[in-house]
Amino acid sequence: MDKFVIEGGKPLKGEIPVSGSKNSALPALAAALLTEEPVILGRVPRVRDLQTMERLLVNIGATLAVDEERVTVHANKIVSPEAPYELVKTMRASSLVLGPLVARCGVARVSLPGGCAIGARPIDMHLAGLQHLGAEISQEHGYIQASAPGGLKGGRIVFDRITVTGTEDILMAAVLAEGETLIENAAREPEVVDTADLLKLMGAQIEGAGTSVIRVNGVKKLHGATHEIIPDRIEAGTFMIAAAITGGDCVVTHCRPDHLHALIAKMQEAGITVESCGDTAVRVRGNGGIKPVDVTTEEYPGFPTDLQAQYMALMTQADGISIITETIFENRFMHALELMRMGANIRLDGRQAIVAGRGNLTGAGVIASDLRASASLVLAALAARGETVIDRVYHIDRGYEKIESKLSAVGANISRVD
Ligand code: EPZ
Repeated sequence: MDKFVIEGGKPLKGEIPVSGSKNSALPALAAALLTEEPVILGRVPRVRDLQTMERLLVNIGATLAVDEERVTVHANKIVSPEAPYELVKTMRASSLVLGPLVARCGVARVSLPGGCAIGARPIDMHLAGLQHLGAEISQEHGYIQASAPGGLKGGRIVFDRITVTGTEDILMAAVLAEGETLIENAAREPEVVDTADLLKLMGAQIEGAGTSVIRVNGVKKLHGATHEIIPDRIEAGTFMIAAAITGGDCVVTHCRPDHLHALIAKMQEAGITVESCGDTAVRVRGNGGIKPVDVTTEEYPGFPTDLQAQYMALMTQADGISIITETIFENRFMHALELMRMGANIRLDGRQAIVAGRGNLTGAGVIASDLRASASLVLAALAARGETVIDRVYHIDRGYEKIESKLSAVGANISRVD
């Protein structure tokens, strides 16, 4: 099992390039199931979750061509409309094939995702949405069976609460449903917009993506398309915090500053110099003190839950007390326990973490528990005095492409050991 060994205390300086968005590439790959023509996707990050999704598509019957630049998915026939447990248990976003499979071939059999470190994360809203489009849903032996032999019919779906992949799943089902579909209380994340952009390139009729109400007019068939995935805003935010927490000066390139307003505002409020450099880069300079600034995670365009752990690492270095409130997932503070091993002074109280700041972090042996928690530990290790060994870095490999080489290139002393 790989580990990271990090010697902290060095300010990061230079340019850090951002890869394509994992959470946009996942629905984009699933969307390729909606057509028998090839779909060519640029900027698909080479991370474990995407490799899992690619294996799932091959399992279903698609052929894939993967090179450094792009992934071509050709689902000209569906052999097995199924997402087996052994794949779904390693990546819950496999449920994104539900909508496309029911829409394309009238049936889907997907293993229930099961538990996750950060919360129960059920998919009940995905299933309720499909039922509103006329699908019959049954569950047995840990699998969900969704069927609509006569095809899906447009309907009105109002999500009880905002769900990102739920919105994407239903959107991908609705594009081939007969008639009009209205999706209300839809997620507004950039990854939802990117999925809709790809679907429109494939011939779908969609209005309102990026707002809370998405209107879809179903079409009979979709055709192939070529599309470049948007940059990963969470990876970009992680590197921005890396520059700040080490007192460095970095330009995060190939990103979309307009997707990062909530983080940029909080970092500027904390006294960190953050400047957009055009439409595709952000310069971050950690110039000394960091003011404590409270954060509450919210759905987009609020502060992203996927940057909460990384932000907590930054607040351990602030000159005072800050309160971090996590409203999206019920168990997303496991990184706090590991940060405390490094000397951080944090008190957990339900959905809130009170971070005392002024933590002189010292290197320690720590264990990654989930994808973004591991990113938080890397950031803390970069700021800590001495050596940190982070175990179970396979978590970080799920969502960050070559993170150790990107950080080494700007001066971090980080290496991967088996
Ligand atoms: C997406 O997960 C992201 N994953 C997550 O990123 C991200 O943290 C999350 O959205 C919130 O922004 C992908 O896009 C692949 P939700 P998703 O449905 O869609 C509850 C990462 O680190 N809920 O928006 O699964 C759910 O339990 C990952 O890259 C239901 O109750 O999240 C949660 O409390 C982690 N029933 C809340 O809604 C449902 O049917 C929001 O979840 C669906 C969700």
